[in-house]
Amino acid sequence: MSESRNRAPREETFSNGFTMPITGSEKMRQVINEGLKMRIRQDDVIVATYPKAGTTWLQEIVWLICNSADTTLAKKTLLEDRYGWMGKLPSVPGNGLEELNAWPREQSRFIKTHLPFQLLPNELQNEAVCKLIYVARNPKDNCVSSYHFHRMNKRLTDPGPFGEFLERFTQGNLVFGSWFEHVNKYWQVSRGRERSMYFVLYENMKKNSKEEIKKLAKFLEKDLSDTQIDIVANHCAFDSMKDNDSVNFSRSVASGVFDSDVSKFMRKGQVGDWKNHFTVSQNEEFDDWYRKTTADWTLAFDFVM
Ligand code: A3P
Repeated sequence: MSESRNRAPREETFSNGFTMPITGSEKMRQVINEGLKMRIRQDDVIVATYPKAGTTWLQEIVWLICNSADTTLAKKTLLEDRYGWMGKLPSVPGNGLEELNAWPREQSRFIKTHLPFQLLPNELQNEAVCKLIYVARNPKDNCVSSYHFHRMNKRLTDPGPFGEFLERFTQGNLVFGSWFEHVNKYWQVSRGRERSMYFVLYENMKKNSKEEIKKLAKFLEKDLSDTQIDIVANHCAFDSMKDNDSVNFSRSVASGVFDSDVSKFMRKGQVGDWKNHFTVSQNEEFDDWYRKTTADWTLAFDFVM
């Protein structure tokens, strides 16, 4: 195992005083601090998530909704070239900000981010400037997906046995910090910003993607016909995205970093795969933690379909 795989994330305090674990990279600290000053455009469209909550899936859906369900155009260009990345990981070329600043003024910018709300550009924290879609996934499946991602991503810390990783997840000792704080903060802010912030649950998307895509289109103020909604839903179904090399990372810069023999990026795409990973006692402990941490939440997750 290379040395970089052993590098654990460490707490970093950013220029606005917010603290979050990142891997020991000065570049990431700088990118995030610099990003706080980034100017937002009114027609920006942002997809924000805690990592492994279904970012890629929603990016493709949102892009298609905003581009008249043109799947031919979508297939021509890698998803990562259709989106800018705010708070880009240091392992990926570029810093995200330069690409976003250079984006043609006459085109809407599509932006993905895993940043917690408190590290979004100041302008966006202070007021509802553009549309933002937040995707959340139940923490058990989110954790399992993240575990496998850490196994296959040569630039991330080795996750060790699942039990150890689960502990890190509940303690928030992962890059981008605590799942609980991430989701909760976006949820709280979105309650007062219904026209500019939209909350999508992974499990709802799985259960009824067409209805969810319709609601998203309404939020994005795009008029799609039923046929176009069907096209988006079919194109973005797991089995279809799994084989689509403009979104499955098989021909992207990440393909050298992701070891698909260990685990695929498009792994299972299911609700409830956590049952294949949690022992009975891990599950009981987790449920206990979850009950306590989310006692005053108004947001509920489905853990099974
Ligand atoms: P699993 O590891 O559970 O399979 P992100 O894009 O945020 O990195 O999230 C990746 C997770 O979303 C992976 O979960 C991946 O399989 C799942 N995913 C990607 N596309 C999907 C789709 N079209 N439908 C359902 N899940 C999808």
